[in-house]
Amino acid sequence: MTPEATPSDPLLHPALLADHPQAIPLHAVTPQNWEDRAKSVGPLAQTYAKQQGFAGQDGQIIQLPAQDGQVAAVLLGVDAHKNEDSVFAAGRLAQSLPTGDYCLGEGWSDQNAAALAFLLSLYRFERYKKPDPKIRRLVLPQGCDGHALTVMSQSIAWGRDLINTPANDMGPHHIEAAARWLAGLYGATIACIEGQALLTQNFPMIHAVGRASTRAPRLIDLTWGDPAHKKVTLIGKGVAFDTGGLNIKPDASMLLMKKDMGGAATALATARMVMGLGLKIRLRVLIPAVENAISGSAFRPGDVLQSRKGLTVEIGNTDAEGRLILADALALADEDSPDLIVQFATLTGAARVALGPDLPPFYTKNDTLAKRIQELGLAVHDPVWNLPLWNRYRMMLDSKIADINHISSGGFAGSITAALFLDRFVEQAKDYVHFDIFGWTPTARPGRSEGGEPQAARLIFELLKRDFSA
Ligand code: BES
Ligand code: ZN
Ligand code: ZN
Repeated sequence: MTPEATPSDPLLHPALLADHPQAIPLHAVTPQNWEDRAKSVGPLAQTYAKQQGFAGQDGQIIQLPAQDGQVAAVLLGVDAHKNEDSVFAAGRLAQSLPTGDYCLGEGWSDQNAAALAFLLSLYRFERYKKPDPKIRRLVLPQGCDGHALTVMSQSIAWGRDLINTPANDMGPHHIEAAARWLAGLYGATIACIEGQALLTQNFPMIHAVGRASTRAPRLIDLTWGDPAHKKVTLIGKGVAFDTGGLNIKPDASMLLMKKDMGGAATALATARMVMGLGLKIRLRVLIPAVENAISGSAFRPGDVLQSRKGLTVEIGNTDAEGRLILADALALADEDSPDLIVQFATLTGAARVALGPDLPPFYTKNDTLAKRIQELGLAVHDPVWNLPLWNRYRMMLDSKIADINHISSGGFAGSITAALFLDRFVEQAKDYVHFDIFGWTPTARPGRSEGGEPQAARLIFELLKRDFSA
């Protein structure tokens, strides 16, 4: 860090500088125009870049020297044709540059997205490790909203931390503590129904799934905002750890199941953006938080559960636990007829088979809303893809002894049948959208650090800001 830097605004992200005249410019270049940019730094720079094999290819980075040996500028090769995430390419720089203060130079088509990608890529999960000694900072580009960038990137980082934290330090009560911390930050109201009280207050499926754990199941209920505004309810699957229950998962499938509260983390991260940036909506966040554990009191395959909605549910497989706890939360959400319910859940392996880890499927009966969501996702680099609530598959959930089975008999269309099951618990809400997210980035790419990722949070914030905020 250099002493010339203007002291940062305490409300700005610590990696954002209000101003810094000596910051090193970062230029986005192509194979066609990189030589001109290098030349503008000085005659040495172009020769040096060539010698180093820099040719402006996608992903290439070079630090150009000034006469005095200091870094004068940085070039990043960006090829919009090769790379659909090219607007987020600045994230590559955040991941690889040495300590220093930087600013965006030439060649960035969307400075706000570039700054956001830079901040998002700085993230590291450091709870159990020494912090990275490298400090890279970015001058806030002209015309960008530093407060918005700060709230967006800090909300995502928080969501990632919640997912990355292993289940020994992220049980149902830790998820509650996180929600309480957020409520305190923005003056939201929060209530929690825990353990036996889930039975007396009629959340039988949340209790059944969570009762085998020594860490009690609970339903977290947060509200914020003016009751006169549009009512939006976010729901997140909060399975602190998913062993599969008595239908226990094989070792490889269980290894990552600390991330099974990824939906809860996404709902909380979205709520932080909504409250932090003061959207004019009445927000409610519902998180059923449980651990799908194994003990003598575990629910079993073949059991028939009562649900809050009144439907009886036959259990086909205790590993399909997420939809059970969500069904009770959805029934509650539906009772006050909100304008919109948005649900996030790491619900099925089938969603990953269909679309891979980067593109979560989503479901809604409103085709106009579906189109809007899919377009906004692409626009804010938080892509999702619409899949159908295919009516003919409803019969796959028929049960001989209960109103409904929670899984399909054949194993076909696993993500769709999960969505169809959940759909039975919503009647009154004006609109309802369900996201079957992965919640994880297997290998880092620009704007996405490896590990937990609250997928679709930025997208839903954008939707709420544009279409629901009064
Ligand atoms: N949490 C899992 C789904 C999951 C697995 C999400 C891997 C992301 C990555 C969920 O509770 C589950 O186990 N679902 C089962 C359902 C099946 C038993 C009908 C699945 O998808 O295999
Ligand atoms: Zn499961
Ligand atoms: Zn699960």
